[in-house]
Amino acid sequence: MKPRKTWLSAALAGGLALAALAAAAQTVKIGYITTYTGLNANLGPYMERAARLYMKQHAKDLPPGVKVELIIRDDGGPNPDKAKQLAQELIVRDKVDFLAGVIFTPNALAMAPLTAEAKVPFVIMNAATSVITTRSPYIARVSFTLWQSCHPLGQWAAKRFKRAYTLVSDYGPGHDAEDAFSKGFTDNGGQIVDKVRVPVVSLDLAPYLQRVKDSKPDVLMVFVPAGKTATAVMKTFNDLGLKDAGIKLIGPGDITTDEELPAMGNVALGVITVFHWSAAGDRPANKAFVADWEKEYPDTPIPNFVAIGSWDGMDAIYKAIIAQKGRLNPDKTMEILKSYKNPNSPRGPISIDPETRDIVQNEYLREVRIVGGQLANVEIETIGKAVKDPWKEINKKK
Ligand code: PHB
Repeated sequence: MKPRKTWLSAALAGGLALAALAAAAQTVKIGYITTYTGLNANLGPYMERAARLYMKQHAKDLPPGVKVELIIRDDGGPNPDKAKQLAQELIVRDKVDFLAGVIFTPNALAMAPLTAEAKVPFVIMNAATSVITTRSPYIARVSFTLWQSCHPLGQWAAKRFKRAYTLVSDYGPGHDAEDAFSKGFTDNGGQIVDKVRVPVVSLDLAPYLQRVKDSKPDVLMVFVPAGKTATAVMKTFNDLGLKDAGIKLIGPGDITTDEELPAMGNVALGVITVFHWSAAGDRPANKAFVADWEKEYPDTPIPNFVAIGSWDGMDAIYKAIIAQKGRLNPDKTMEILKSYKNPNSPRGPISIDPETRDIVQNEYLREVRIVGGQLANVEIETIGKAVKDPWKEINKKK
């Protein structure tokens, strides 16, 4: 019997050792969907690079033996069917602990029901239409909403201009930008002379901008997705002479996204935007982030707001992993995400509103100026402190 006992205890000890090993080698999987192809292909790499930089700097904060793996997928742009299929595969086949990333609203909306069915926490790092977070209790958004920037922008503009025109991409965030700006502007005495909605995936904006020019507004508010689309607007605005005609161009920060400023050139000078972050923001945490980024990625030395969404999103995910020592329960994760706070984000103090699971943050009034020989979104004023999504606040009151 003695040998058998020895065998048994050895097996038991081996089993325990294996279990201990499994516990020690815990890997948290993040299904990370973003955009590497199509018109806005430039945005995905910024999002991913911020996540990788965060992971590199914070690997030391993880509980012993816990690793984080990003499983990266390309949705190719605003493409809800593709995003849904990718999310399904990530949930069922890869058994991810989180879904994260996502530039485009239609993609986030298509993924939302899956996150609710499968109970997979989904940390949205860009998609910015207000309604998204209401579509699943497993969504927390760390990016922004168009209402957060465009509503205060409308209030600000009403003090300076009488007649405004709005031009937006014809989908969720564009509709929100139009509604939010118009409300802020008209509630404070401004008049919307006309509005136009343009196809999302289009660089040919000349016919629309010609119509704007012909109606001679004082100010034009534009929302188009950041990146190459925003640069196209800026160029056409200039080429058609709207700038020379004295029409002031304003919008959410998407239209002067930091990494595109060199491509936009001096056309962008003087453009006023409201946003939650700028590469030129002089908060120490921002300066450190921008310097670390430049060092890590000298080929794309200026980060952008999708990078910041991803950076803060990874911080929220890491807090949930650390608090649970790598053994994740989706409901516990959501509780942790709902009480997430960072007084020292590169964008300033941020938190998640536990009631709506949406980001609460400062909004800055910025102007494109030349700083040290380069175009920059200079933050001139904190136009709103700890701003909750105004769309949700307004609808709550009804
Ligand atoms: C969105 O689809 O929600 C979206 C995309 C690009 C932006 C902002 C919002 O710049």
